[in-house]
Amino acid sequence: MGKILTIADLKNQARRRVPKMFFDYADSGAWTEGTYRANEDDFAKIKLRQRVLVDMTDRSLATEMIGQKVSMPVALSPTGLTGMQHADGEMLAAKAAEEFGVPFTLSTMSICSIEDVASVTSKPFWFQLYVMKDRDFVNNLIDRAKAAGCSALVLTLDLQILGQRHKDLRNGLSAPPKFTPKHIWQMATRPKWCLDMARTKRRSFGNIVGHAKNVSDLSSLSSWTAEQFDPRLSWKDVEWIKERWGGKLILKGILDEEDARASLDTGADAIIVSNHGGRQLDGAHSSIAMLPKIVDAVGDKVEVHLDGGIRSGQDVLKAVALGAKGTYIGRPFLYGLGADGKQGVTTALEIIRKEMDVSMALCGKRLITDVDHSILA
Ligand code: FNR
Repeated sequence: MGKILTIADLKNQARRRVPKMFFDYADSGAWTEGTYRANEDDFAKIKLRQRVLVDMTDRSLATEMIGQKVSMPVALSPTGLTGMQHADGEMLAAKAAEEFGVPFTLSTMSICSIEDVASVTSKPFWFQLYVMKDRDFVNNLIDRAKAAGCSALVLTLDLQILGQRHKDLRNGLSAPPKFTPKHIWQMATRPKWCLDMARTKRRSFGNIVGHAKNVSDLSSLSSWTAEQFDPRLSWKDVEWIKERWGGKLILKGILDEEDARASLDTGADAIIVSNHGGRQLDGAHSSIAMLPKIVDAVGDKVEVHLDGGIRSGQDVLKAVALGAKGTYIGRPFLYGLGADGKQGVTTALEIIRKEMDVSMALCGKRLITDVDHSILA
């Protein structure tokens, strides 16, 4: 592997290692991908203040997210089909995150199940919930996450209906994947990926197959996912989910001040300013552009987190300066996973930590908990 110094290096490496349809699945946004690009580009518009002759010894990035200790304010985002970037992807990423001291969030649409991830981790991870029309299935999923000891439920609100990604349509990627000769060729040109995949039994949606009514195999799963996302989801639903779960609750997908204010009534512990990584409403603002307005709207009544477009430790620093208590990375860890499995996820986290630490020091701060608006030019 060539010298890996940036998240972009990991992305290039992943492109060479992961079959095209799965690499594109990660590296895509909805329609024109304008919001996907804005998420990254808007970070570059924010400038930092260079400070000198300030004591920069004994620095620390350690802080808390929802009252839980983290070695830096960066969690791994929930991402579907992660086990297709690398065999057993969710288990590997969860282990890497655990060793690094940051939260891992398992998606409802993961390949490895809640129980698979629990079997290889020794600390609690977070679970992301999609609310499906089949409420028995949802209740059961919440109970499984509780039984596995998950320490937060991340409830995704911005996917009542599915956005559309042209790359996936062009690649013929469906959930679950249906393999055509073109797909088989794409996989055959990635022999290491194929060998790893041949060794694992986890190639289907572990949280769903065998748990949802009448979903016992890949073909029944296909029709189930097509019609199960619930377009009627409402704030009322958040209430029963909160009650059933009974633990820390994070609402994901808030991008509007009015929604942010409405979220206060739910008693959630945190909200994530997010546009689903630009995969849902193309044409929406970037997450970082909306962050200050949402922080203003909710004050200190709820913890505000952010995801979308973070590609460096500087980006994390900027989000923290604008009021985010925590951030999440989606594609950066997926690229790491595709490039080099568990080690690749660790490398992604190390790159971000190093960049954050050096940038924080050059802004004249020693502690991430002291970072505020004053570091921005
Ligand atoms: C996602 N995202 C996502 N979100 C969620 O709540 N449940 C999910 O299953 C998925 N699946 C998913 C798959 C892939 C391939 C990506 C890239 C993203 C959105 C994700 O949690 C997060 O909001 C974004 O990824 C953050 O943006 P960045 O860091 O990828 O730019």
